[in-house]
Parts: sequence; structure tokens; C-alpha cells
Amino acid sequence: MKYRRVLITGGTSGIGLATSLKFAGEGDRVVISGRNEEVGRRLERDNKNIFFVKADLSKKDEIDYLVDEAYNRLGGIDILVNNAGVLILKRLEDMELDEFIYTYKVNLYAPFYLMKRVMPRMAEEGGGVVINISSIAGLSSYPNGSAYCSSKAALISLSKALALEYASRKVRVVVVAPGLVKTRMAIESLGSIEAVDKSAKNIPLGFVAEPEDIAELIYYLSSDKARYVTGSVYVIDGGVIAGRYKSLVEED
Ligand SMILES: NC(=O)c1ccc[n+]([C@@H]2O[C@H](COP(=O)([O-])OP(=O)(O)OC[C@H]3O[C@@H](n4cnc5c(N)ncnc54)[C@H](OP(=O)(O)O)[C@@H]3O)[C@@H](O)[C@H]2O)c1
Repeated sequence: MKYRRVLITGGTSGIGLATSLKFAGEGDRVVISGRNEEVGRRLERDNKNIFFVKADLSKKDEIDYLVDEAYNRLGGIDILVNNAGVLILKRLEDMELDEFIYTYKVNLYAPFYLMKRVMPRMAEEGGGVVINISSIAGLSSYPNGSAYCSSKAALISLSKALALEYASRKVRVVVVAPGLVKTRMAIESLGSIEAVDKSAKNIPLGFVAEPEDIAELIYYLSSDKARYVTGSVYVIDGGVIAGRYKSLVEED
């Protein structure tokens, strides 16, 4: 089978790392980005199908560099996974405008600009798939999440608009909205791995997802098996936002 050419942002950690290893393990060629050069170079050394490009996605010129390098290395991009993201949790009074803007730069403007650079060329070359990693926080907000929740909600709306704009040009745009996943982001925001594990009691399925759980869904959605899927949001959260986990009525 012919390999596919994949660009994954935030491939140095968590969901992006697991997704990069999944695609590379299936024989696809993957360009990953991140700021952590040590991890990126190690992944490149250990995997013949992975190429690392150092890029800070809050900077437009570094996104341009990443896209140019991805085209140089791969010759084209069949699949774009906008995965890199940042989470700043603060009360409104403490959230600086710069922090709010930085969150938007990484979580929303970078996916927008990457899609702007990549989707027209995908269309010219016969089609492609974009997977945007939002969050259940983009569907159901929580306190202290003004920047994160709103950026993830906007990413969903942006994805739907572009899915419609590009449907006739054979570029699918799909959103994946994970719940809690055992990654650096979750550990840093909850304070410890123990705190992440303890959250399992609030998850209907009773456990916290591993990054590989999300990678499997991303891989499926990028494949031709999902050829009828575009403009939709795939929640993968152990049942968290399906409804109220606990009844409002006291039970014996
Ligand atoms: N973990 C969860 O519970 C959860 C739940 C829902 C959604 N998500 C979403 O899933 C995605 C992946 O998160 P994760 O949980 O896997 O977190 P993670 O382990 O902290 O990984 C985040 C990735 O994003 C990259 N990144 C962050 N800021 C960047 C910047 N300015 N420029 C370039 N790269 C940057 C990091 O690369 P470097 O460190 O190399 O810079 C890293 O590879 C995010 O969009 C997140 O919002 C996570």
C-alpha cells in the first residue's frame, strides 16, 4: 500500500506523540512539530518514518517554516492533524490579556493558518483530511477556562465552516473532542499524576484515557473508512458530557 504524508503539530508529547507513532508504525511518513528539540530529534533518530521540525506555533514565520519544511520533506500533505495546544486556567481577574491572546494563537490562529496554507494545495492535489483536536471543554465550559474553553469552541466552529467550504473539493475537516487524557497537560493542570488518576471516579467509564485511545480515533477518521465524515465533532470522553453522571435525586 502507498504511504500517506502526514503533518502533526505537537508531536513531541501526549496525544500528538501517540498519534505520530501510530501513523509512523502503520508505514505513513510523518512530519511532527514542537519546541522541544531534544525529544523531537530523538523521535526522528528512532523512527525512520518521523521527521522533526522545530517550530513555535504562536509565531507566524515559524508556522511558514514548518509548512515549507513539511512540503520539502514529504512532497505533499495528505493529512494534517492540528493537535498542539496550551491550557491556562485562571480566574477572570487573574487572566492577563497576553495569556488569553497566547492561548488563541496556539489553539486557534495556528490551526487556522496551517489550514490556510495546506488546504488549498490539498484540494489542488485531489483531496485530503484535516483533523482538529478540540476538547469537550469546547462543548461544555468550566470556571477558570475562559481562554481555553472559548478557543476550543471557536476551533469547532472554524472547522465546520471550512469543512463546508472544502467539501466539494474533497478535503474533509473533522474535529476530535477528547475528555481527560493522561498527558503532561492533564498532569500539569491537575497538579499530579495521582490527581489525574483520582479523576476516574468522575468519569462514567471509570478510567482516564491514554493518549493511544485518542490516536486510534484520529487514525480511523483520517482513513478512507471515514470517507463520509466531515464537519462533525467526535467526542471521546468516557461518557463525561453525555449527561448528568449522578442523579439529582438522592438515592439510598
Ligand atoms: N490531555 C487532555 O486531557 C486533553 C483533553 C482534551 C483536549 N486535549 C487537547 O489535546 C491536544 C494535545 O494535548 P496533550 O494533552 O497531548 O498535551 P501535551 O502532552 O502537553 O502536549 C502538547 C503538545 O503541544 C505542543 N505545543 C504547545 N505549545 C506549543 C507552541 N507554542 N508551539 C508549538 N508546539 C506547542 C507541545 O510541544 P513542545 O512541548 O515540544 O513545545 C506538545 O507536543 C491539545 O490541543 C489539548 O488541548 C487534551
